[in-house]
Amino acid sequence: LLSQMGPDALLTMILRKHPSQRSAEDLEVIYEELLHVKAVAHLSTSVRKELAAVLVFETHGKAGTVLFSQGDKGNSWYIIWKGSVNVITHGKGLVAKLREGEDFGQLALLNDAPRAATIILREDNCHFLRVDKQDYIRILKDVEANTVRLEEHGHTVLVLEKSTTDSTDQGGAGGSSKYTVMSGTPEKILEHLLEKVKLDTNGNDTIDSCVGDFLLTHKIFMASSQLCPALQHQYPLMFTGSELEKADYSLAARQKVVKLLGQWVLLYGRLLKDDPVALDFLEVRPPPLSHHLKWNCLKGAIYGELSCLPLLIMSRVSVVFFTLVLYEISRPDNIPITLMLPVNTSVQEVLSAVVKPGADYVLVKMNSMGGGFHDARPLKEQQGPEQGTADALEQMCSKDVASQLTHYDWELFTAMHEVELIYYVFGRSKFPGATTANLQRFVRRFNEVQYWVATEVCLCQDLMKRAALLKKFVKIASVLKEQRNLNSFFAVMFGLSNSAVQRLYKTWERIPSKTKRIYCAYERLMDPSRNHRAYRLAVAKLSPPYIPFMPLLLKDMTFIHEGNKNYKDKLVNFEKMVSQTKLFVHHKCGSCTKLINFNVKALVSFASDIKCISIFCSG
Ligand code: CMP
Repeated sequence: LLSQMGPDALLTMILRKHPSQRSAEDLEVIYEELLHVKAVAHLSTSVRKELAAVLVFETHGKAGTVLFSQGDKGNSWYIIWKGSVNVITHGKGLVAKLREGEDFGQLALLNDAPRAATIILREDNCHFLRVDKQDYIRILKDVEANTVRLEEHGHTVLVLEKSTTDSTDQGGAGGSSKYTVMSGTPEKILEHLLEKVKLDTNGNDTIDSCVGDFLLTHKIFMASSQLCPALQHQYPLMFTGSELEKADYSLAARQKVVKLLGQWVLLYGRLLKDDPVALDFLEVRPPPLSHHLKWNCLKGAIYGELSCLPLLIMSRVSVVFFTLVLYEISRPDNIPITLMLPVNTSVQEVLSAVVKPGADYVLVKMNSMGGGFHDARPLKEQQGPEQGTADALEQMCSKDVASQLTHYDWELFTAMHEVELIYYVFGRSKFPGATTANLQRFVRRFNEVQYWVATEVCLCQDLMKRAALLKKFVKIASVLKEQRNLNSFFAVMFGLSNSAVQRLYKTWERIPSKTKRIYCAYERLMDPSRNHRAYRLAVAKLSPPYIPFMPLLLKDMTFIHEGNKNYKDKLVNFEKMVSQTKLFVHHKCGSCTKLINFNVKALVSFASDIKCISIFCSG
């Protein structure tokens, strides 16, 4: 009988056997055949051999049969052996046709996500080779880099790549592999990420890190005016079918949208205030969304997530105004009055500070054109201190000084929103209404500390005291490093390596050799060679929270930005977005109290008041 069968019939017969019943020759026949199947032809011999031993033959007779539905749990991967299928997604309908030799159903397996589409037979009598989940994971999980391109209407809309995450990443067991988004259209990326949002009934769910990356960077490729309608589109309006399953599915889909919105609000907080589209959408203003959203059925969920909006908007301080700046007020006799006031002081406040009742001044004229710059010479106040505070510093222990610096830095650092880094690196002008004020403030702080150190050393006139001061700054640097405040650690070290300080040979001669050795070790940490390798190795050992060396972080981000396009073949280069956010998102976890054991005794608020000579600032 066997000898009378054609090759196809023989193969079919072998495939129909239960995998455990296949002989060595059977496996050989299947293996040979797999060489001609597009979906697996690129795999290695050993992988194909393993597949031959587990493939299950599955046939379906009728066109229109639903193989599985979007939202289902995924159990298997399919290769089309004969026939073709339609790929259908909610809200879009038919997006693609798959034919003989093509495969589908792998996404749900690797990402542990629900099915991203419904698969329906296009013709009668379709044959599939099916690999069940455990086998798929066992055999194909570690296979060479594997790209999945999803198409809609003949155009690629999403490119995923298998990546092996290490065990420290959240989600799943250690060493698992996943498909991560490389590029895609903004809408498809959003759709894909929404699928990954997990609804945990306990409420202690973790949000996938790439969802966070998306929210942080969306403005680069998807303005709020595009994101909001897309979210609305992803929100199934009514229960579309009568079946319970469909109702379940659309409820889950809606909850995911709400959850994502909740994350969005949580992330941006107060910054949403400057985003009118977002405010409209979130119904802080009159509610266009609620009509469509069938508000009532979701009220609970929405309120749970979003009722805290006003609170959140309040909670993020948009700029930290610790800084006092010099205000110059003209007088008819050309001797200006100068005042130190916070940088955000309004004209009204400046006026009332000068023209107090009973004060010496009367306001005679206010000129909106400005009084004109009569004299470009710096004012006395702008020239910086003439005397150092070495004596006061001597009284304070290095640990207290360092703690103060760290405390202050931490406040500046946490006031800075992550998205400011994105705006800064991608160019703030591209984002209407965006601020990078906190970031700039923090960067300026680096310079302040650096020049303060040099100023203090240079203003100390007594050799012995100067040597003691030098030693103290090395000690302060070492405490800062211990406190994981790398920004100020570097600032102090930069201050000490300022040429004005470096050439104080006699002073350096007087510091103890132990201090000198520590200083040299720190210098090696600052060594920029091999792309700051020494620093990077040291940082790799730190666990968050820590304050990074800001100038280098910005340099790295700029490097990635300049070396990679935002779009790849007209698709958003999401890989670039993720690698940007990876550089900084983990720094802040935890809080300052973990960073330092704050010493109340040191509560002299000197940290906000450090002064430096401007001559150093000009280099
Ligand atoms: P999975 O999510 O497991 O189940 C549905 C499958 O359809 C999915 O894996 C992909 O393999 C396949 N598919 C093909 N094109 C698309 C598309 N445009 N969107 C979603 N899924 C698609």
